[in-house]
Amino acid sequence: MSFAEKVIWITGASSGIGEALAVAFLAQGAQVILSGRRVEELQRVADQAPQRCRVLPFESTDYDALPAIVADAWSWRGQVDLLINNAGITQRSLALDTDFAVYRRLIEVDYLAPLALTQLLLPKMVARGAGHLAVISSVAGKVGTPLRSGYCGAKHAVIGYFDAIRAEVEQAYGIHVSVILPGSVHTAIATNALAGDGSRRGHSDPNIENGMAVALAAERILAGLAEHQREIPIAEGMELLALQLRVGNPEQLFAFTAKEGARLAALRAAGGSLDPSDIRSQ
Ligand SMILES: NC(=O)c1ccc[n+]([C@@H]2O[C@H](COP(=O)([O-])OP(=O)(O)OC[C@H]3O[C@@H](n4cnc5c(N)ncnc54)[C@H](OP(=O)(O)O)[C@@H]3O)[C@@H](O)[C@H]2O)c1
Repeated sequence: MSFAEKVIWITGASSGIGEALAVAFLAQGAQVILSGRRVEELQRVADQAPQRCRVLPFESTDYDALPAIVADAWSWRGQVDLLINNAGITQRSLALDTDFAVYRRLIEVDYLAPLALTQLLLPKMVARGAGHLAVISSVAGKVGTPLRSGYCGAKHAVIGYFDAIRAEVEQAYGIHVSVILPGSVHTAIATNALAGDGSRRGHSDPNIENGMAVALAAERILAGLAEHQREIPIAEGMELLALQLRVGNPEQLFAFTAKEGARLAALRAAGGSLDPSDIRSQ
């Protein structure tokens, strides 16, 4: 399937995976709605094809503003063919060191915000009898990993919601639902992560720096979406193995992640800096 002329709404389009998706869809001739908070960054992406882009800035957790934004997005071309709930934020802190406010923010941004947007768009797609909803979860949405207890919780939750609505709308109304599961992709995600006190972490870590090139991740995501794939893993090596072990041999997976937890606990006791190990290279 080609995305030429399709209307595609991407949240978190101002950087990283969302920006790379926008570039890839534009290259196929799609019309793209770009959302995120940083207007100038969204405009920078839109400048590549101004006639086929609409910048629609938002703070994804400002739920009161969403109905007007959804109406605006829909009226631009009279439809939205594909919504990609990509905007998100991660965490780098052990549960022992994490404020409750951090858990609340992760649930808001990574779970409730995509749910709220999807909830508003879904009736329009159902009335039209066509549409495609997608969410960027994570390998961490299937596998509990140290330093990301709140992120894992939110990314697991979002899979549950989208799997459930797929069951409700796929055959009944012809709406496709895709859940995307990236492993480490080279973006600013770890730098933008929340620390345990809610501050921005401000530096990256080796697994993200050595992660998959963002353009390759986008290319693979587009290939899966074009086939209306229900679940799209974008992972290699140990991260792909972790997804497989979660189903086939969870005990082995839990033993592996506990070893990483013990390594981090020892570092914490010694006052060292807590970076996740680069499991892609193991
Ligand atoms: N990179 C990875 O290794 C990886 C792996 C698995 C899953 N993911 C997921 O992929 C998605 C994209 O992440 P990325 O790696 O591309 O990181 P990124 O470069 O930090 O991009 C995050 C995007 O989300 C937007 N965003 C964050 N909070 C927002 C809010 N409250 N309201 C509106 N927009 C918001 C940001 O835009 P503004 O700052 O302009 O608002 C930005 O465009 C996330 O859902 C992430 O969890 C990434």
